Amino acid sequence: MPNKTAGKVKKAVFPAAGLGTRFLPATKASPKEMLPIVDKPMIQYAVEEAQHSGINEFIMITGKSKRAIENHFDSAWELEEDLKKKGKQAMLELVKKIDNLHFAYIRQNAPLGLGHAILCSKPFVNREPFAVLLSDDIIDPDDDLLGKMIKLYNQYEAPILALQKVPESEIDRYGVIAGREIRKNIFKITDMVEKPKPSDAPSDLAIIGRYILTPDIFKYIETSVPGKGGEMQLTDAIKAMLKKKPVYGFLFEGKRYDAGDKVGFLKATVELALKNPAVKDDFRDYLMSVLLRMQKEK
Ligand code: UTP
Repeated sequence: MPNKTAGKVKKAVFPAAGLGTRFLPATKASPKEMLPIVDKPMIQYAVEEAQHSGINEFIMITGKSKRAIENHFDSAWELEEDLKKKGKQAMLELVKKIDNLHFAYIRQNAPLGLGHAILCSKPFVNREPFAVLLSDDIIDPDDDLLGKMIKLYNQYEAPILALQKVPESEIDRYGVIAGREIRKNIFKITDMVEKPKPSDAPSDLAIIGRYILTPDIFKYIETSVPGKGGEMQLTDAIKAMLKKKPVYGFLFEGKRYDAGDKVGFLKATVELALKNPAVKDDFRDYLMSVLLRMQKEK
């Protein structure tokens, strides 16, 4: 039987309807995904990563207080006219760069979990394979993680989850897989445990915020049993799916900045500032001066 989900991955879903409680009060009235790292909101890093890997349809799952995301990716006519008049070409290019992409916005009426957020994209995804990007996992653009995952999808025509080795002290923050390495860094997943105690973790391989999914995932989400607070977890749906068909993991060895909590966000800011040509020299000097001061104070 021909595989109905075969074909290029052209769509990406960006779940952005969570409450972002770890950043309160900043996220009381503004979306976590719009918090800037150096000069771009977190979600723009994810959008550019998807764009770079050939995605041309961007499906945003938004919720209450998320209007700023729509405005950010919409054209800003007055701002553009003003910059044009003042001859500020470089700034104009920065604004226009995000103008030319095609977005669909879907409201998740209540934050009922990542599985539910993805289920909201069903009418737009239709019968195609699609990528999911969680924008608080920032991937170094040089590593092209999503591009590599799409290539793997084209070979296997099955869901691909991005994995990273995490230390034992952090394992209880992730979904963790059991699996067999079938090729270097490619695992056939046999089981998954959500947020295990280190003693119960089946491996040190954690699922990170990049997925290529096939549209049959929707039926597994629809039939999954909601957990605490009525939340529908994506992990439960994938776990049900892998009993019926192969699901693969790709072990990512590049750089990921977990900007989902305060310390991770600060680390991502420092790392990306040190890579940004406009600020890196001044910022490095400043960091050195802070280090010297701290050493003196010891
Ligand atoms: P998180 O687990 O980071 O939750 O969600 P959160 O609400 O954003 O943040 P905290 O834990 O309260 O601080 C992972 C991703 O899934 C999205 C979030 O927006 C984030 O991108 N999400 C989560 C939804 O879109 N809907 C949900 O119901 C839950």
